[in-house]
Amino acid sequence: MDLLRIGMVGSQFAAHLHLQNYARLRGWKVEIQVVASRTRARAEELARKHNIPEVADDFRRLLDRKDIDAVDLCVPTDLHHEFVIEAAKAGKHVICEKPLTGYFGKDRPEELVGLAVDRKTMFREALANCEAVAAAIKESKIKFCYAENWIYAPPVVKLKKLMQVSKGTILDMRAEESHSGSHAAYSRKWKTAGGGALLRLGAHPVSAVLHLKHYEGILKAGCGIKLKSVTAEVGQHTRIESFKKEPQKWIVSAWEDVEDWATMIMNFEDGSQAVVSASDGVLGGVRNTMTVYLSNAVVQVNINPNDTVVAYAPAPHIFGEEYIAEKLETKAGWNFASPDEDWVRGYPQELEDFGDCLITGREPDSGLDLAMQTVKAIYAAYLSAEKGRRVELENWGGGIIKRGSSPN
Ligand SMILES: NC(=O)c1ccc[n+]([C@@H]2O[C@H](COP(=O)([O-])OP(=O)(O)OC[C@H]3O[C@@H](n4cnc5c(N)ncnc54)[C@H](O)[C@@H]3O)[C@@H](O)[C@H]2O)c1
Repeated sequence: MDLLRIGMVGSQFAAHLHLQNYARLRGWKVEIQVVASRTRARAEELARKHNIPEVADDFRRLLDRKDIDAVDLCVPTDLHHEFVIEAAKAGKHVICEKPLTGYFGKDRPEELVGLAVDRKTMFREALANCEAVAAAIKESKIKFCYAENWIYAPPVVKLKKLMQVSKGTILDMRAEESHSGSHAAYSRKWKTAGGGALLRLGAHPVSAVLHLKHYEGILKAGCGIKLKSVTAEVGQHTRIESFKKEPQKWIVSAWEDVEDWATMIMNFEDGSQAVVSASDGVLGGVRNTMTVYLSNAVVQVNINPNDTVVAYAPAPHIFGEEYIAEKLETKAGWNFASPDEDWVRGYPQELEDFGDCLITGREPDSGLDLAMQTVKAIYAAYLSAEKGRRVELENWGGGIIKRGSSPN
């Protein structure tokens, strides 16, 4: 195979993001054959915009087609694990958006998920979903590419190079993804999102932190350094009474049963630690930042905002339709005008790696293990926040879940 033939699934935010970054690869590494989405009109709109020859209104229509090698899943999180399993059974490679999966309370009414189900049950079922995905992939021998762009973001790649040459020990990491709230309806409730700010936004920095400790361990001893335990707090800041009374809301406040703020401490087996924060209540454009304190160096990663271009305008209309940065409330005043936001966030690099992997048969830099470990860390954090104490992960063995074992 020298050209990867892809079926896109989903036609909104993430699908646009992927398609605008496949643009540089189309025709020589990848081809987009069809877009499938629940809303046919949206699929048609996306197909027109990105010059895709066909549309379908059901993901399953892609599975028995011989002219599709891989599906790219840009659908709400509750569909990820089922779609991955179905694609694997049909022998299609999978590119899957973050997070891999979670707990969704399939058999429960919507209002009885996020607020009514204990986090231990959620933790167990989220891990069982991971296991089911892993089993289907193993059986089918397809490849799984986990669309975690932080792993490919040039600032993070540079950080890894600096880590490698410094030979320092990572002592402490502080990482964050925050903004003023998601546009997507699925994100408002646990039943479709599987969690709030921590799962949807925090999945990025959590994956980056896990990846870096794994990388450090491989460099030094040939095996990754594992997460040992987590402690966390979650909050719903949009429920604060004085906020509720404010007439103008600058941040999204339509959250139903999901948290809009979270902070977790990740304790690694070598004694190092990371603090990860995620919030849907942060104005001023998306924040994707990370500081790594090594024993002999400090590296500050500013994916967003970064000051490659700092631009000022006395009124918002002056910069017209020109893009400045994601989730920015106003173009007035001083702003960080990212010249190529997708590039600095790692999207084209991620998709190129996936294309190369699926064509050549090698494993992607961001794959199944990272996807599963991220779910495990975050659901342990939910359990910790509920119990008000640290959750040890050691009992869960080297894999994701050890049958019969239970998190404390
Ligand atoms: N990596 C990133 O930076 C990033 C950014 C945004 C979203 N995401 C992830 O992408 C996923 C989608 O998020 P989004 O913001 O695009 O959501 P969205 O609501 O904007 O779009 C979801 C799309 O899925 C389609 N869909 C829903 N049910 C379907 C079904 N049964 N069959 C086929 N299509 C179906 C909808 O029609 C829609 O086109 C989420 O898991 C999210 O976490 C990742």
